[in-house]
Amino acid sequence: METATASFSKKTIDDVKFSGRRALVRVDFNVPMTPEGKIADDTRLRESLPTLRKILADGGSAVLMSHMGRPKGKVVESMRLAPIAAGLSERLGRPVRALKDCVGPEVEREVASLKPGDVALLENLRFHPEEEKNDPGFSKSLARLGSVYVNDAFGTAHRAHASTVGVTEHLKPRVAGYLMKKEIEYLGRILSNPARPFVAVFGGAKVSSKLSVLKNLLTKVDRLLIGGAMTYTFVVSQGGRVGKSLCERELADEARNILEEANRRGVEVLLPTDSRAVQDVDKPSTIQVVPSDQIPDDREGVDIGPDTVKRFSAALRDAKTVFWNGPLGKFERPEYADGTFSFARALASSGATKVVGGGDCVSAVHGAGVADKIDHISTGGGASMEFLEGQILPGVAALDDR
Ligand code: 3PG
Repeated sequence: METATASFSKKTIDDVKFSGRRALVRVDFNVPMTPEGKIADDTRLRESLPTLRKILADGGSAVLMSHMGRPKGKVVESMRLAPIAAGLSERLGRPVRALKDCVGPEVEREVASLKPGDVALLENLRFHPEEEKNDPGFSKSLARLGSVYVNDAFGTAHRAHASTVGVTEHLKPRVAGYLMKKEIEYLGRILSNPARPFVAVFGGAKVSSKLSVLKNLLTKVDRLLIGGAMTYTFVVSQGGRVGKSLCERELADEARNILEEANRRGVEVLLPTDSRAVQDVDKPSTIQVVPSDQIPDDREGVDIGPDTVKRFSAALRDAKTVFWNGPLGKFERPEYADGTFSFARALASSGATKVVGGGDCVSAVHGAGVADKIDHISTGGGASMEFLEGQILPGVAALDDR
């Protein structure tokens, strides 16, 4: 049986000659949009280009399918994919036809008219409730649109939907695109064969959303750094005072167990020693540096303090692999961004292989201006977490074995 730690064992687009064939390509174009309907972050579009270029250079045509948002099986105007087709066309340097639906006779007619080198993008898959239900009939209708199936949607590989799983029952070959392969290889190496010392850094608001991944990575890492609001659940588990800071008191026992397990395994854990704390999040002028385990009752932690930045940065110095998920403070506000950005810069200057995952953290490395120094920025939020928890991703499992 395949495991999530295996090296990439699936067929890829390098195993297929696309000449004269129509590839049905699952991409993840679920990208953030501005209120004006413009693409706010085009990473997922840019990352799809190598796969599309290879298909087109071979002399194939491509029918792309994606979801956007969670429209709950209905047409939601603001979640139409026409602006994405336009954005992709600019980046690909050739026209991308935006289709009005993703299944049905009209769509079948349109895709049948595609010539080698042509690209079409289907309408948002989730306008049909059958997509998320992995409905067999809907899967079959999608399968009619191509003769080769390519999955390059790492960000959606943890969803067993019609376009990621059901469709693969009706199409062969079923292969991974370059982005899918790259993601699984980088994240897979973290699980199976990281260069050591291996340091994992977790931040963000909630311990609850990271419990499984923390537990799995404890068996792999040499050092664990914890920041962000998650800190305060750990601080409470050690009897500290966290004032009004965000904290999941009901998870204090779990947090304590993690620290004890780390101790048993000889994993060094660094928790913040100081925090920047405010009386009111909307009044940054009230900011003060206080010990992270003695936050006054009228204050809440919003960022790691300078001593913690120093210790965390020093903890990266000898690292050979670093994985970072979750910001270390409320960095969306410039007044509270110092800890996260200083840490991002320290990470950028480390000689380790650096992998960053999860939407907020990706914005943080961009905000700190160091994105180009990171070896791999994962395009998957939930998918990368589930993968690092050790779960098999259904969208990957459904592809042809090598
Ligand atoms: C993501 O952005 O994490 C993926 O596109 C999956 O989206 P979903 O959580 O709505 O399934």
